[in-house]
Amino acid sequence: MRTTRAAILLALVAAPALGAGLAPTPSDMLGPFYPDVLPQDTDEDLVQIRGAARPAVGQVLELVGRVTDTNGQPLAGVRLELWQTDAHGRYIHSGDPEPARRDPGFQGFGVALTDAMGRYRFRTVVPGGYWTRPPHHHIRLLIEGQEVLVTQLYHPGRTREPGIGGAALSSREAAQTLRLRQGERLVPVGEFDFIIDLATPRPRR
Ligand SMILES: [Fe+2]
Repeated sequence: MRTTRAAILLALVAAPALGAGLAPTPSDMLGPFYPDVLPQDTDEDLVQIRGAARPAVGQVLELVGRVTDTNGQPLAGVRLELWQTDAHGRYIHSGDPEPARRDPGFQGFGVALTDAMGRYRFRTVVPGGYWTRPPHHHIRLLIEGQEVLVTQLYHPGRTREPGIGGAALSSREAAQTLRLRQGERLVPVGEFDFIIDLATPRPRR
């Protein structure tokens, strides 16, 4: 009897609370290309600039997923900011070293808000790489104007770059890489769920 009670107590102490303990999405560098001037159109569709004659060039990609806390609870009303290169590897930032190669049809920056289920959706293109960097999406998440995460997302099999190896590469592949699948009308879908540690205070920028 005593053994059984002791075992139950041990199990209660050792087991995490139901649904708790999800590992937060790792942060990553902001980088130098967060837009210095935001575009006029900042909606979640980076492929089509409002009023533009043509859409962006390149492979269209739906970027979808959810935002939850470390208990798995959906977070509604989270502002997600996405900025990335166009298909040619160019940013809309004025400091991009090769502005002549930039695709004027690509919005370069967009904002999405999570719904009541914590879901978000962007429409973008597969970014071109630049320098020694593989294709990546920069993402910043804010709750009520407070930054809660800055990170970068990668594509399966395209995570490697000089200076990133060992544990850093393993973490990138496990926790910062899209799940790719074929969506409707053969448009590829990249899925990623963000897990936010709300308990960790973050400085305002
Ligand atoms: Fe970048």
